[in-house]
Amino acid sequence: METIRGKTSLDLDFNGFTERLADYNRIMLDLGTGDGRYVHFLANKFHDRFVIGVDSCRENLHTPSRTKLRNVLFVIASAQNLPQELNGLASHVTINFPWGSLLESLLDGDISLMQSLASISKSAASIDIRLNSGALNEVGASLNAGTQKIYSNMLQVGWKMNDPVTMNTAALRAFPSTWAKRLAFGRDPRAVSMSGFVK
Ligand SMILES: C[S@@+](CC[C@H](N)C(=O)[O-])C[C@H]1O[C@@H](n2cnc3c(N)ncnc32)[C@H](O)[C@@H]1O
Repeated sequence: METIRGKTSLDLDFNGFTERLADYNRIMLDLGTGDGRYVHFLANKFHDRFVIGVDSCRENLHTPSRTKLRNVLFVIASAQNLPQELNGLASHVTINFPWGSLLESLLDGDISLMQSLASISKSAASIDIRLNSGALNEVGASLNAGTQKIYSNMLQVGWKMNDPVTMNTAALRAFPSTWAKRLAFGRDPRAVSMSGFVK
């Protein structure tokens, strides 16, 4: 599995990975983590949990991966093709403000993404997906239509999802990710959040 620390990639084998996780019984996974701010927030808040940030863009991970936190790891991978070392580990998955192929796969119900989500999740794992209007508009969907499509795609593959809820500007401002802050102070601060768990 390709991990990154600063500008240095490190191939972490299964044994090395298992050692890193040894002291933790809850593992949280943030897909499309960007600059990893949310991962740092979670790792600082929950010292007894291990938090893994995944992004397909290695440049995004150069700075955040230079962390001294022991309970953090950054992995370079595409969400549609996650390393098998992650299988069955996650008790909580987040996808915050996806764009590009991650968003398109959610919208299309792409089987490779849906299988990845199922593979990495422990039984009764929970998931939070946060979506914003601008990113959906860029791929030709409105906030409402895109949210409904993703909601029904998740239901279809067996996630039990709660109804999507609006994230207003105050909620975006308070949310500890870089993209949430950008949206909160940008031209189109419309966003929604949906939570669920695997049945
Ligand atoms: C708008 S940014 C959001 C970053 C972060 N979650 C936040 O809230 O600040 C979307 C991120 O998704 C990543 N991404 C897009 N497609 C991806 C894919 N297929 N697999 C993994 N990451 C992907 C991008 O590289 C980018 O860092």
